[in-house]
Amino acid sequence: MTSALPYANGDIHIGHLVEYVFTDIYVRFLKITGRDVIYVCASDAHGVPIEINASRKGLTPQQLVSEFHKRHYDDFSRFEVGFDEFYTTDSPENQKHCEIIYGRAKEQGHIAQRDIEQFFCDSCKRFLPDRYIKGICPKCGAPDQYGDVCESCGAIYRPTELSEARCSLCGASPALRTSKHLFFRLEDFSEFLKDWTSAPGRLQDEVRVFVNTWIDQGLKDWDISRDGPYFGFKIPGEQDKYFYVWLDAPVGYIAATEHYCMDKTDRSVGDYWLNHDSDVEIHHFIGKDIAYFHTLFWPAMLKSAGYRLPSAVHVHGFLTIESRKMSKSRGTFITARQFADNIHPWYLRYYYATKLNDSIDDVDLNIEEFVNRTNAELVNNITNLISRSIGFLNKRLDSRLGSLPEGSGEFQASALALMDEAFNDYSNLKISAATRKILAISDMANNHVQQAEPWSSVKTDPEKARNDLTLAINCIKLIIIGLKPILPSYCAK
Ligand code: MSP
Ligand code: ZN
Repeated sequence: MTSALPYANGDIHIGHLVEYVFTDIYVRFLKITGRDVIYVCASDAHGVPIEINASRKGLTPQQLVSEFHKRHYDDFSRFEVGFDEFYTTDSPENQKHCEIIYGRAKEQGHIAQRDIEQFFCDSCKRFLPDRYIKGICPKCGAPDQYGDVCESCGAIYRPTELSEARCSLCGASPALRTSKHLFFRLEDFSEFLKDWTSAPGRLQDEVRVFVNTWIDQGLKDWDISRDGPYFGFKIPGEQDKYFYVWLDAPVGYIAATEHYCMDKTDRSVGDYWLNHDSDVEIHHFIGKDIAYFHTLFWPAMLKSAGYRLPSAVHVHGFLTIESRKMSKSRGTFITARQFADNIHPWYLRYYYATKLNDSIDDVDLNIEEFVNRTNAELVNNITNLISRSIGFLNKRLDSRLGSLPEGSGEFQASALALMDEAFNDYSNLKISAATRKILAISDMANNHVQQAEPWSSVKTDPEKARNDLTLAINCIKLIIIGLKPILPSYCAK
């Protein structure tokens, strides 16, 4: 199981957490049900923004990456995201696999060369990626727009179409310069990708529809090289050319697996990524913004190099807050650590669980609903059931369970049926539906205690009180098993 590799270039926020909590819940569910599963992730270390931010802070890119790697690891730990491996793409294993994959693609003729013209800043001595060029939007005339898209009118264009283009680093006006680039010929894989994406269970239906439109529109060559200065891996056999960060990033899934295998198991990376006869499954969890990379480029790269292909790519929507995009100016841009410093991470994990399912719709954090759900479901319904049933048994009935009350067979059967349904929901990534089933068990138990009134019957018939509580506490056992993937430390407590 993988989650996307977070850029080691800033703190993770509660939007990122939707993905990591989602994957983590699924992984924990699989582990609880006895599946042999590892959850690997890594810092995405390479690229121009990291290199530039590091130099602004007077650090090497490696130093910046290692700082954020630690911060991310701490943040994930506070939210109980339990990676089996959290590695980095700036690693020897990653370089090795990138070179193998590129080498094989090249051998088979899937790599093309072409000169392209690009803005170059003479004073910064670098080619400028689209995001580092600013100018006037060719469509609406808004000033100060990026080289790829206008934030004012939404137009998409090439940086050369901007008027008064400037280098956003130094303000100088850049000039066009030609340089050789290497391209991965994605079109060669059209037929393969059509088949691969249409296998049952590979993609959600709604994802398959838009991926197929991309394929039908014709797949363009993918520029996989960048000129130096660049923080990344040098392309073998080329002068001052580096692999584009999006080439080496997904390979990081393989590198992380290899690093995991080095000291945590007697398996090898090949058992996971090369052996085509094994029953290994590879599952990626990603946000919808990076679906193109994971459903087209990535399988094509793996295919051309003879690696194993992912069994499924699970795409989720974006976090919105009060139905709007997170925003710094509205104060709704919340980092994971700001959240955890103020509110217990349990509440966010639980709230997300009540929202997560297998669709690509956005996930909305509504503050009032968050407060109500936490109080009504987690505190008043579940925690209250646990604390008063077990508290009462401890205080008044020597902490001993009795037997299940006579005539409660039907009750038990419905509770167990709900549990089965919850497990089914988890298997189908319908986490939200699973929480409803667990809550229904808690409702049943609360109602039973309410009707049986053990606080009265304890005076006249303590064994009846004990048996009624025993039924409730058996429900608590089910609830704890059912909630464990969502709230591991809560359940342990
Ligand atoms: N580094 C790339 C991924 C490389 S994977 C080989 C990247 N990093 S990211 O830090 O920008 O995003 C990491 C994951 O978090 C992505 O799957 C992204 O979709 C997800 N999310 C980022 N912001 C999000 C929200 N606001 N809401 C939900 N998921 C979000 O992309
Ligand atoms: Zn410049």
